[in-house]
Amino acid sequence: MEKGITLTRFIIEQHRRNPDLEFTELLAELTVAGKIIAREVNKAGLAVTMGLTGRTNVHGEEVQKLDEFANATIIKTTDHTGHLAGMASEEMEDIYHIPDKHPRGDYILVFDPVDGSSNIDVNVNIGTIFSIYRRKSSGSHAILEDFLRPGREQVCAGYIIYGSSTMLVYTSGQGVHGFTLDPTIGEFLLSQENITIPRRSRYYSANEGNYPRWAPEVQQYMDYLKEEDKASGRPYSARYIGSLVADFHRNLLKGGIFLYPGDAKAPQGKLRLIYEASPLAFIVEQAGGRASTGWQPILDLQPEKLHQRVPLIIGSAEDVETAERFITS
Ligand code: AHG
Ligand code: MN
Ligand code: MN
Repeated sequence: MEKGITLTRFIIEQHRRNPDLEFTELLAELTVAGKIIAREVNKAGLAVTMGLTGRTNVHGEEVQKLDEFANATIIKTTDHTGHLAGMASEEMEDIYHIPDKHPRGDYILVFDPVDGSSNIDVNVNIGTIFSIYRRKSSGSHAILEDFLRPGREQVCAGYIIYGSSTMLVYTSGQGVHGFTLDPTIGEFLLSQENITIPRRSRYYSANEGNYPRWAPEVQQYMDYLKEEDKASGRPYSARYIGSLVADFHRNLLKGGIFLYPGDAKAPQGKLRLIYEASPLAFIVEQAGGRASTGWQPILDLQPEKLHQRVPLIIGSAEDVETAERFITS
């Protein structure tokens, strides 16, 4: 479809092609949340939502005011749509029940309201990650089993990245599409249709401060990337922003591999399966890339717990395959 059409029109046309994607309205409401969060982020230091709340979340991480603001904003803009039977988020210990005054629907929404929180107060790109499943249970409210789903069952996944411009990237199983917010009209406009990730690249993203605690096979892969070998484009260049969404977005557009492996201190790594790894894995596979724990595809994992962590190797298919060969050797 032609560049510059609104996201709303794009999802309506997608819905026309694929009538069982009834969550288009939900997606439209989510973009409203994105615009409201973008407004707060762009006020930067002037916003009341900067700084810490003084509380810690279920992961023992300090909760930023923007984490809480974004969490509440996403709930407020979507809980009345009649499409949802429940929600879950990084900032809420248990699943969120849709208030009885609102109609409920067939979908559940999981999200990381602000990804890259440590970058909020220093004006570095942060993001929101979201994912939608059709519910499995049939009662009046969604139950935990509706959320503990293999990523392959997602019907939609996306992220919003708040940076030099605010972009929304999503897939509903028919390719990956990018929209840029035009703040003068408050609309997300189609900027990249059918995004595909280069099969191999020259960039890697990892927090090498953890290198001493990584498994020897992961260290060997990192050392391999730094060896001089013109034929395979090595040494690679390091690009690490510390916001998963920003590191992922750059790798999606330019190619690259992002690694947050497990280590001696945290065998399951740091990133959460349900609202960080799975949504991005759905997007990257739709764009022709690959996402695994190093051992198996992220999208095949059956979650046991809402906030469980998972090692994440994600990006250009050939780079992830090479990393897997080292890790499983
Ligand atoms: P969140 O802010 O939602 O907790 O996510 C932060 C994550 C992710 O965005 C990023 O890739 C990673 O933390 C960075 O971790 P390190 O600071 O350990 O590198
Ligand atoms: Mn996050
Ligand atoms: Mn977060």
